[in-house]
Parts: sequence; structure tokens; C-alpha cells
Amino acid sequence: MLIFIYQEVLASNMYYGDLTCIRAVEPSDIDEVLKYWNDLNFGRLLGPPIPWSRKFLETWIEKRISADPWRDKMIELAITDKATGEFLGFVHLEDIKRPHSRAEFGISIHSPDNQSKGYGTDATRVILWVAFNILGLHSIYLDTMEDNKRAIRTYEKVGFKQVGLLRETEFIDGAYKGLLVMDILRREFEAANPDFSVKMKP
Ligand SMILES: CC(C)(COP(=O)(O)OP(=O)(O)OC[C@H]1O[C@@H](n2cnc3c(N)ncnc32)[C@H](O)[C@@H]1OP(=O)(O)O)[C@@H](O)C(=O)NCCC(=O)NCCS
Repeated sequence: MLIFIYQEVLASNMYYGDLTCIRAVEPSDIDEVLKYWNDLNFGRLLGPPIPWSRKFLETWIEKRISADPWRDKMIELAITDKATGEFLGFVHLEDIKRPHSRAEFGISIHSPDNQSKGYGTDATRVILWVAFNILGLHSIYLDTMEDNKRAIRTYEKVGFKQVGLLRETEFIDGAYKGLLVMDILRREFEAANPDFSVKMKP
């Protein structure tokens, strides 16, 4: 039964959660990326806000969409609204370490109009389910600015735990901020989300 489900997930080429559909990133997503990644308010949540050229972001997308999870140790996917197909942002696993079965997680819901509507929580659940049930990973970690309360709340809802603070590591707007490190093990994800599984159809 389980093998049958995995085969169907792989064949459908998209992962469906309750609110989101996670699909491959396409070169045509570039306009959405340009729009939001050059919003410096958005940029300062992810690192030093810097204006990016179309060329730079096209190269970034090209690299990410050509990546193989095992060879390149990363997978980047697009988050879309399950009901409308609207592009919402990106979710990724990177630094995939095969002998240790662990990876680093990252996510962005681009438009402020789409934030705090449950998309980030759902997409996080989907990619963690994929990490544990398709990629066979055991633990996932992340870091986030210590004052990014919405992100921290989102990750805690899914079952991530706070495990430490890297102090004064990010220089943003003329001041240093810490990076909060969080992680989750497969068994903790299953305990926190007992009824959740990725679906094959909307
Ligand atoms: C962080 C992010 C992925 C979360 O996704 P989202 O779709 O906005 O989040 P959700 O709606 O699923 O959940 C947000 C939760 O945080 C809560 N929240 C929102 N603002 C908050 C704040 N200032 N303080 C505390 N909690 C807050 C919401 O109420 C909700 O919790 P609830 O369901 O218990 O009510 C998204 O907002 C985002 O991409 N932001 C910009 C980039 C970013 O910060 N990326 C993460 C970098 S580590």
C-alpha cells in the first residue's frame, strides 16, 4: 500500500497539501522572483538586502532547477495555491548530507498579501513529509532571524524545536542580530502531524 502511494506521488510530479501544491520551479517563475526579491523589506528577512539583476536571478533559477538532490545536495521547489495555481514562493532543502540523512530547510512566501494565511505552514508540512517519506531523511534543521516571530511560530506549529542561538551573526540595518537554530526529527514530525500526508491529487 505504502509503495503504491509513493509511486503515485512520484508519477503525479506535484505534491499536494491542504492549501498548497508544491511543484518544480520553472524559468517562467523569474518575473515573480524579480518582483519580490528586489523588495528590500522582504530581503532583510532572508539576509543582507541587495538589489538583484534579472541576469543574476536567471542564473540562480537555472542552477536550482538543474540540481539533483544527491549530486548537488539540494532541491528547490515552487509553492503554489492549490485552488488557483498562483505562484506563492519557494521552499527548499539544501546541504543534504546523505550519510547522516539530514538537510537544511528554507521557505519564502513572497507577497505580504499571501502571508499569515496558512500557506507557509502547509508548505512546510509538505516538504517535511517529502523529506522524511520520499528522500528518506531523518532530521531537518533551519535558522531564522531571532526576531522573525511569524517564521518561528510557523515552524513551531509544524513541530520544529528551538535548539540554540547563534549570537550577533547577522548585520542588518546597521545592527547585529542573532540567528535562532531550530530542528525536527522524523518521529517528532509524525507525532506533531499525525493526520498529515501528501496527496497525489488536489
Ligand atoms: C515565514 C513565512 C514562511 C510563514 O508563512 P505564512 O504563510 O506567512 O505563515 P502561516 O500563515 O502558515 O503561519 C503564521 C503564524 O504566525 C503567526 N504570526 C503572524 N505574525 C506574527 C507575529 N508578528 N508574531 C507572532 N506570530 C505571528 C500567525 O498568526 C500564524 O500562527 P497561527 O496559525 O497560530 O495564527 C512567510 O511569512 C514568509 O515567507 N515571510 C517572508 C520571508 C521569511 O520570513 N522567510 C522565512 C525566513 S527563515
